[in-house]
Amino acid sequence: MITETINNYGYSGIKRELFSRDKIKERIAMAGAKISLDYAGKPLLLLSVLKGSFIFLADLCRAVEIPCEIGFMAASSYYDGTVSSGNVKITLDLDRDISGYHVVIAEDIIDTGRTLANICELLRKRNPLSLSVYTLLDKPCRREVDFSADVSLFTVPDIFVVGYGLDCGEKFRNLPFIAEADL
Ligand code: IMP
Ligand code: MG
Repeated sequence: MITETINNYGYSGIKRELFSRDKIKERIAMAGAKISLDYAGKPLLLLSVLKGSFIFLADLCRAVEIPCEIGFMAASSYYDGTVSSGNVKITLDLDRDISGYHVVIAEDIIDTGRTLANICELLRKRNPLSLSVYTLLDKPCRREVDFSADVSLFTVPDIFVVGYGLDCGEKFRNLPFIAEADL
């Protein structure tokens, strides 16, 4: 069944499906409901850290049933393939003042923690009303800096995952489920 699904999409380079589109949808609905409750009546900015979280944000914002605004930032720490450089570079910054907003960052995956530790430090200096992090995936065993998300939808072991926005050398982002890459 899993092999069939993968073959239907014409993908090679994938070992196995980890989280199906239905499972992802279910968890995102729960996350959206929590955001809707927590931020009802408050100015809310949902912030995507590109590129990996573009699909997560697109689905998460549609699971949020209160008014919100959307923002984008981009950071790069993986230059190509699967090896982290250790340095985080902000390649696209927000186009607005966030001091009047509760900011919820939607991230694809927390690995070493460096990307979000840097981004959160930068955003806190801009005095948002509050700052919280929702991550689709968390790899706690790979952490190099002390950082944890407020909400994590799935925990993964030390494997390289692709799909649903996450890439390996810019490929597999359009896979509609999350899979382990066959490196
Ligand atoms: P960190 O700074 O090490 O936490 O890395 C975060 C970024 O690395 C994520 O936003 C992803 O873009 C990328 N990354 C880390 N692990 C994976 C993975 O297993 N698959 C795809 N991208 C990953
Ligand atoms: Mg990312």
